[in-house]
Amino acid sequence: MTYSRITGTGGCLPERVLTNAELERMVDTSDEWIRTRTGIRERRIAAPDETTCDLAERAARQALDAAGVAPSELDLIVVATTTPDKVFPSTACLLQARLGVGGCPAFDIQAVCTGFLYGMTVVDQFIRSGTVRRALLVGAETLSRILDWTDRATCVLFGDGAGAVVLEASGEPGVLSTHIHADGAYEHLLAVDGGISQGYERVAGGNAYIRMQGNEVFRVAVNTLGSIVDETLEANGVTRDAIDWLVPHQANVRIISATAKKLKLPMDRVVVTVDVHGNTSAASVPLALDTAVRDGRVQRGQRLLLEAFGAGFTWGAAYLVY
Ligand code: ACO
Repeated sequence: MTYSRITGTGGCLPERVLTNAELERMVDTSDEWIRTRTGIRERRIAAPDETTCDLAERAARQALDAAGVAPSELDLIVVATTTPDKVFPSTACLLQARLGVGGCPAFDIQAVCTGFLYGMTVVDQFIRSGTVRRALLVGAETLSRILDWTDRATCVLFGDGAGAVVLEASGEPGVLSTHIHADGAYEHLLAVDGGISQGYERVAGGNAYIRMQGNEVFRVAVNTLGSIVDETLEANGVTRDAIDWLVPHQANVRIISATAKKLKLPMDRVVVTVDVHGNTSAASVPLALDTAVRDGRVQRGQRLLLEAFGAGFTWGAAYLVY
């Protein structure tokens, strides 16, 4: 039996830290409101000339180093992003050129905050089928570019960053199952209005910002994440005792705690980075994973439950042996 195993992780955060105190000076908000409603204390913001691909490249090189894999050994490059550098080529192709390795397939996946779980599902299928032996999967975003910095309901929530993993074919257990879903009926609750096929002026004219009915999204997210973790445990015939670490999407610490509570997992078995990263969309799960790998919490052989929920709506989970 062939599994996909994570053999290296990497992460990249822009240098610029944006604190809640600074946001207090920009919109009608308070550090207290942001911390108690979301758990966020600060987030990182890309420099004006820093792009999603710049962050993706740094995270990717770190993951490749950690795995001991040369770029030339890759059979597949997938980038999950909602904030690509260009309409085309894909950010994955731009990244491939920077890594100096033409030839292998490279493409982007767009499933907003669930992008990394969608990407892991796709990569896992390629590896299990024997088509690919070594793949690079990156979640990278510059969400700050699509924020309305006068809208306090959204601009305090998001940040920029990238996380990456190298997945390799192995006879040892790795990814045990992935589960992805979507329900396209919720565009009215969470969207960026403006896109290329609506006419370039609409984007250039400044309408392309995140708008969200936060409290309604919150309710659906909590319920949906509750059911996807059940689905994942059931599919593997295991209970919550078979989870060493929950590595959730980092949108709001209250959503994360609700999922942990549902699983009856103590918070010291949950990786939380939303306090210092904010919501980095497709980068959030791999950044959280990389943080916990690098600080020694996540150890080889441990079983991880990854989950995410985002616009679409899209949602997904993965159960794996690290
Ligand atoms: N500072 C101060 N007050 C604020 C702020 C702010 N930054 N933002 C909103 N408020 C006010 C609102 O105007 C409202 O005031 P009112 O009662 O006078 O009308 C009050 O705070 C409560 O607003 P709610 O929206 O009900 O607050 P809630 O507790 O739901 O928290 C939040 C808002 C943090 C957005 C939460 O709903 C949330 O996390 N939602 C889910 C986000 C998510 O998971 N999104 C999916 C992934 S993102 C993606 O896919 C791109």
